[in-house]
Amino acid sequence: MPSSTRILGLEDPVLITGSNGFIGCRVVAALLRRGFVNLRCFVRPSSNLANLHALREGAPSARIDIISGNLLSIEDCKTAVREAVVVFHLAAGIEKTFPGSFMNSVVTTRNLLDAVVEYGVLRRFVNVSSIAVYSNRKVKRGGLLDEDCALESCPVERAEAYTFAKLKQDHLVVEYAHVHHIPYVILRPGAVYGPGAHQLTARVGINTFGPFLHLGGSNELPLSYVDNCAEAIVLAGITPGVDGEVFNVVDDDLPSSRQFLSLYKQHAKSFRSIYLPYPLFYAFCWFWEWYSQWSKGQLPPVFNRRRCASYWKGNRYANTKLKSRLGWSPVVPFTEAAQRYFDSIRKAS
Ligand SMILES: NC(=O)c1ccc[n+]([C@@H]2O[C@H](COP(=O)([O-])OP(=O)(O)OC[C@H]3O[C@@H](n4cnc5c(N)ncnc54)[C@H](OP(=O)(O)O)[C@@H]3O)[C@@H](O)[C@H]2O)c1
Repeated sequence: MPSSTRILGLEDPVLITGSNGFIGCRVVAALLRRGFVNLRCFVRPSSNLANLHALREGAPSARIDIISGNLLSIEDCKTAVREAVVVFHLAAGIEKTFPGSFMNSVVTTRNLLDAVVEYGVLRRFVNVSSIAVYSNRKVKRGGLLDEDCALESCPVERAEAYTFAKLKQDHLVVEYAHVHHIPYVILRPGAVYGPGAHQLTARVGINTFGPFLHLGGSNELPLSYVDNCAEAIVLAGITPGVDGEVFNVVDDDLPSSRQFLSLYKQHAKSFRSIYLPYPLFYAFCWFWEWYSQWSKGQLPPVFNRRRCASYWKGNRYANTKLKSRLGWSPVVPFTEAAQRYFDSIRKAS
């Protein structure tokens, strides 16, 4: 990419939070591949830094500073943000509890934004969100969700701490951007897969009740291969003229849930599964939700109609804006991505 089509120079300092995570270290690798040589990788002190050290060894001419701290600390945020012209914010809480998710996705984001406001040199804040924040309640089965679709309005009823926190995180970014004139882009990746994340996405099914319940059926899976996702995140941080925009991140040539499960069983790990059609599982979720309310919380409302619709109703997600505005295309096509993923699972077991 010529320098005139980037908002920053190759030597400008760039901060990556969550840089040691599943997607974060691929973002670091993608930045290095594009020639960026001044990377500030934020990690927590407890992080296993093997991946980042390997990347550093593979790029001896680049300056890769590993900044150890916690985004819950305002001082650590100031240290991290100092001089950075682009922030790729990937750190997030994947805890199942509301307080845990809120702390590590929302409070951390607020601290980071406060530090950004203090320094005032930022050219782009890339906020990595998720397609989990959309509501598909008013969209028909099979309908397409693009970036203009409604967001979940009752995240507490969906009983998903992650979605609740990601929604709050997005709101916070937009609010700060508005008040403090911070240039930002929001990315909403689908289910990100690849070596390093071996669990099958819940959009295929769940094993909460013992046997694996296949719930996705013929739904198209909103997958994003980890290197394709990282490429989209990097483009969102460097492309001019996209401030204030939101982009879904899903791949092309996506398989159905049934096809993916069958490939997974064939090439990664074999196990038995039971198929449950959507209307049946929706009725189960409706009953669970009703019982949870009637029994005043004897069962937590983890299965409910909103969550059921969001995961298994069978909506598709558009990536046309990602292609047209950021010039993104999948660097790894589905067949190769799936092969790399399944190989990594076989090797690990
Ligand atoms: N994976 C997916 O399918 C998917 C889909 C859509 C969106 N996303 C989003 O993509 C981003 C990256 O996800 P991922 O899958 O790479 O997750 P991950 O592997 O769990 O990485 C998250 C990173 O956040 C860091 N972190 C958490 N709390 C922190 C804190 N208080 N201070 C500093 N760092 C903190 C963690 O640090 P430690 O290494 O120290 O634990 C970890 O490296 C997240 O924002 C996530 O919501 C992921």
